[in-house]
Amino acid sequence: MSVFDSIYSIIVILIFSGIAISLIYEKKARISPTPVLPAVRAKVMAMLDAQKMTPDNIVDLGCGWGGLVLKLKRLYPVCKVTGFEISPLPFWFSRLRTSLSSRVHIMRKNFFDKDISNNDIVTCYLSPYHMEKLKPQLENLKSGSVVISCSFPIKDWIPVQTEYVRGIFVMIPVFMYIIK
Ligand SMILES: C[S@@+](CC[C@H](N)C(=O)[O-])C[C@H]1O[C@@H](n2cnc3c(N)ncnc32)[C@H](O)[C@@H]1O
Repeated sequence: MSVFDSIYSIIVILIFSGIAISLIYEKKARISPTPVLPAVRAKVMAMLDAQKMTPDNIVDLGCGWGGLVLKLKRLYPVCKVTGFEISPLPFWFSRLRTSLSSRVHIMRKNFFDKDISNNDIVTCYLSPYHMEKLKPQLENLKSGSVVISCSFPIKDWIPVQTEYVRGIFVMIPVFMYIIK
């Protein structure tokens, strides 16, 4: 086997291992690490910017590849931004991507096990299953905290604002809730 063959084999093994790990974690997390579309990210930022908040803590639940975390950090440079991500590949990618940003913490933790009540802003792009299960944690947020959910509403909660972004096939809703 030549050096070229060995390198080729290692690359193929790494790619297939990456795919296998991603599939295993997709099943475990009940969602793929599909990133928020750039237009949706821009809408989220515009909705938050309009609130004129000065948050201390923000969390992105299921931060995937870190796209939203970086945008949040740009909008609120002095704030602490935490991203929870359970799947190893997106976790390491977002960790690397944010390694030069101060006060950004990417954690490989299950957000259902974490106390998120000290956050002034919570963002997420998850699924109806996750939104339902998150309800008790979201109910514990301080009064005035903002929750922004891309695509999926929180059942029985009334959003203060709903915006729509044109996606590839459908209009994508973005829901904003303010805790009373
Ligand atoms: C659709 S992606 C979110 C995209 C991301 N917010 C962005 O900025 O593009 C959803 C992510 O949530 C993660 N996830 C799902 N359940 C989780 C849990 N209980 N704890 C931590 N991460 C979770 C998945 O692994 C997946 O990467």
